[in-house]
Amino acid sequence: MRGPLVRSLHICASILLLLVLCMHESSGNVLGYSKSSALAERRADLLLPEISPNAAPQPFLPLLAPSPLTPFTNSTIPKLSGTCVLNFTALSNMMMVTSTDCMAAFAPVLANVVCCPQVEATLVILIGQSSKYTNTLALNGTLAAHCLSDFQQILVGQGANDSLSKICSIRSSNLTGGSCPVSDVSEFESTVETSNLLAACGKIDSVNECCQQVCQNAILDAARKLTEKAYSLLNLDGSHVFSDHTRINDCKSIVLRWLGSKLEPSRAKEVLRGISNCRINKVCPLKFPSMSHVIEGCGAAKSNQTACCSSVESYVSHLQRQSFVTNLQALNCAASLGVRLRKANITNNVYSQCRISLKDFSLQVGVQESGCLLPSLPSDVVFDQSAGVSFLCDLNDNIPAPWPATTQLPASSCNKTVKIPALPAVASGQRNFQRTGSNYAASLMASVALWILM
Ligand SMILES: *[C@@H]1O[C@H](CO)[C@@H](O)[C@H](O)[C@H]1NC(C)=O
Ligand SMILES: *[C@@H]1O[C@H](CO)[C@@H](O)[C@H](O)[C@H]1NC(C)=O
Ligand SMILES: *[C@@H]1O[C@H](CO)[C@@H](O)[C@H](O)[C@H]1NC(C)=O
Ligand SMILES: *[C@@H]1O[C@H](CO)[C@@H](O)[C@H](O)[C@H]1NC(C)=O
Ligand SMILES: *[C@@H]1O[C@H](CO)[C@@H](O)[C@H](O)[C@H]1NC(C)=O
Ligand SMILES: *[C@@H]1O[C@H](CO)[C@@H](O)[C@H](O)[C@H]1NC(C)=O
Ligand SMILES: *[C@@H]1O[C@H](CO)[C@@H](O)[C@H](O)[C@H]1NC(C)=O
Ligand SMILES: *[C@@H]1O[C@H](CO)[C@@H](O)[C@H](O)[C@H]1NC(C)=O
Repeated sequence: MRGPLVRSLHICASILLLLVLCMHESSGNVLGYSKSSALAERRADLLLPEISPNAAPQPFLPLLAPSPLTPFTNSTIPKLSGTCVLNFTALSNMMMVTSTDCMAAFAPVLANVVCCPQVEATLVILIGQSSKYTNTLALNGTLAAHCLSDFQQILVGQGANDSLSKICSIRSSNLTGGSCPVSDVSEFESTVETSNLLAACGKIDSVNECCQQVCQNAILDAARKLTEKAYSLLNLDGSHVFSDHTRINDCKSIVLRWLGSKLEPSRAKEVLRGISNCRINKVCPLKFPSMSHVIEGCGAAKSNQTACCSSVESYVSHLQRQSFVTNLQALNCAASLGVRLRKANITNNVYSQCRISLKDFSLQVGVQESGCLLPSLPSDVVFDQSAGVSFLCDLNDNIPAPWPATTQLPASSCNKTVKIPALPAVASGQRNFQRTGSNYAASLMASVALWILM
């Protein structure tokens, strides 16, 4: 695939050099390849397919250096409202991680997978921690507006994008209790079975939680308990509770904040991000524009493969400009697009015809557009003064996009999480390699540098 670059990312040729150097140094023994020097001369985009998808996903790190124009190291001291009850200082490390996850030019392309989940988790924990002193799990309207503004200003001062509330659709009402009838900590604790909640969510298994939903069910139970209060106050039958989705959602936020007050901030973050990952991996975050060109190019009657593939490639390259996606999201995107094409009577497998792979659904980085699919549990972005910005990509991404067998979307994506390394059939002709050491991942931390020219 020759997907064009995102306009704002202009990539320096030294990417290849750095990657090659790194691979040269590390590939020899660790990967079990004998022809390491020959391999090392290959370019990044050619290198990636050497990794067979039947191995566990392995990360590599593109290092994304901030533009000289990005005032990343010049933290501006923001003017704060002075009335916000949230203690930003106590969570300064988490605030810094959040700023980096949402760094100026990257925020839009990492919004769905990293930036916004981290922003939401940070707000939950800030409010949760403050409840230890304020005894309430919600801010009132006035306070919420001041706190959201302070929160954003601090992040922007540390390099975050200045339109976070737009990018992540956060309003000050998201910091209030909304329609949940309970926000007082003692009332919460006398309403909800807190020991069950803590047992289920004190620590989650971030892989199996998405399937088994142990913590998510406990949160839902607790939110329903809180919601019932609204009905008992009105002497109404509690059976309404189950259809009161807005109130249950608002109460879920209260439950999360309570967890944010009981758990260590770092533990709370793990739990909250784990739950977000379940949510984000269930869907394809990309918007599908009109596919009339593809339908025209690949329509059964004509079936000119060259024309068909050029229209498919062009379509996918537009899709992939939208954002980075996780490997599971890419599977969902491949399924969604495939189902739409099938519904338009394109029944032959255009993915295999046109060699579309999962990574083609994610933003491409590098001159040679090596795909960067994020792992299903995406890590935080890391900033280092000298190395720049980096995040983990999944090397196990050269998996042919699976073409749907029917016009139905696959029933459950649940078990994908567990099986992802082996899930899509191993492409024939790809070389296997043995994972020979725990330092393998480290050895693959290829330094791919990007320069953003804005
Ligand atoms: C850094 O911040 C100071 C004060 O906030 C400002 O005067 C200066 O111009 C900034 N430098 C850059 C490179 O943005
Ligand atoms: C905020 O947290 C810091 C560090 O934990 C603490 O020193 C400070 O007193 C707290 N500020 C308020 C207003 O609670
Ligand atoms: C912040 O995000 C917006 C997208 O909402 C983008 O247009 C803008 O360029 C970003 N800001 C910076 C400084 O990159
Ligand atoms: C909002 O809460 C703050 C702090 O608890 C309080 O000082 C303020 O009066 C409240 N405002 C309203 C409108 O209730
Ligand atoms: C904020 O609240 C609005 C509804 O008021 C909701 O649509 C939106 O998803 C919420 N944002 C977050 C990040 O929870
Ligand atoms: C297929 O389409 C390509 C590009 O549109 C065109 O150059 C070629 O002549 C077509 N082939 C046939 C057999 O129609
Ligand atoms: C697909 O083909 C069937 C039968 O060949 C036809 O009835 C249907 O209208 C076609 N659908 C579309 C969207 O072209
Ligand atoms: C997931 O896999 C487990 C066993 O591997 C099975 O019991 C369960 O029914 C599967 N769930 C779905 C939704 O397919």
